[in-house]
Amino acid sequence: MKTLVDQHGRVVRDLRISVTPRCNFRCTYCDPLGMGHRDPFGTVSVRDVAYVVDAAVGLGITSVRFTGGEPLLRKELPEMIALAKTAKVEDIAITTNATLLKRRLPELLDAGLHRVNISLDAVDEGVFKQATGGGSSKPVWEGIDELLTRGLHPVKLNAVVMRGVNDSEITKLAALTQTLPLHVRFIEYMHLNNADSEQYQKSFVPGWEIRALVEQEFGALEAVPTDPSAPARLFKVPGWIGAVGFINPVSEPFCGLCSRMRLTSDAKLRPCLLNDREFDLRPALENAEPVTAIQEMFLVAAHRKVASGITTPTQRARTMVAIGG
Ligand code: 5AD
Ligand code: SF4
Repeated sequence: MKTLVDQHGRVVRDLRISVTPRCNFRCTYCDPLGMGHRDPFGTVSVRDVAYVVDAAVGLGITSVRFTGGEPLLRKELPEMIALAKTAKVEDIAITTNATLLKRRLPELLDAGLHRVNISLDAVDEGVFKQATGGGSSKPVWEGIDELLTRGLHPVKLNAVVMRGVNDSEITKLAALTQTLPLHVRFIEYMHLNNADSEQYQKSFVPGWEIRALVEQEFGALEAVPTDPSAPARLFKVPGWIGAVGFINPVSEPFCGLCSRMRLTSDAKLRPCLLNDREFDLRPALENAEPVTAIQEMFLVAAHRKVASGITTPTQRARTMVAIGG
């Protein structure tokens, strides 16, 4: 079996495929201006996904995560998941805001989905509404309940913390792990939305501060052994069922362990989330030998993967909603 190694010696094992830049939320840290609505709905077709996944598996990629925008807005998502299963991808996941999850979960699981990560930035309904640009958490909780009922433990929840938006929710989110088998993961806000630099600095909350708030409220956290190459450090309040995690891409960058490559919803290979360099896959997808041509592009893109991304505020060519979480 081949492996895809970049020029810094990192093995590429995970592929994130954004299937649409559209979203039914408007999270401040992601797409405050609704930019995702200006882009085409998603030009990555089921056929494209078939070729890309085949090419990726042939290069040793073992995990595929479908993202957006909101991937459940794409009706063909189950077909795409089924293709990943046929290609023998070991780990098939989605990242979703879960508003449409309850209804769609059965078809996704039938297709071969293994894992679901959910974005949940607040417990309080008013804060949730503000953080998501008008969203409601009720259907999100119905989706979470459905996962728990079906025994898909642990359910991983992601909360991006922004000062003045949802920092008041940190302890409430952590408290969910007392009685529920959830991993509540706090993510440092990255400058991916072209926010004004000063505004960004004001809104940024470092992971150590989030952790301190949790410990102040619930006492010392105990470390849960985790895969050292995973970005989240996991902890427990002793005796609680779930866990809290900290993902600190800004204060403790984990680029040295990065095993990812991204495909944007307009079929560009993007080696790094925090770097605008992209490689158009469209010509390879239209090639007479698409899988071979795509694999060549993966090698080119891996070779050009930067050692580390830019975490300081800078003008980005695209916002997060167009790249894929
Ligand atoms: N900073 C950190 N994480 C982000 N996400 C989106 N935008 C940002 C950002 N600016 C993450 C959220 C969401 C996923 C789709 O991407 O965790 O759950
Ligand atoms: Fe939508 Fe997720 Fe971006 Fe929020 S973070 S706007 S839910 S894609």
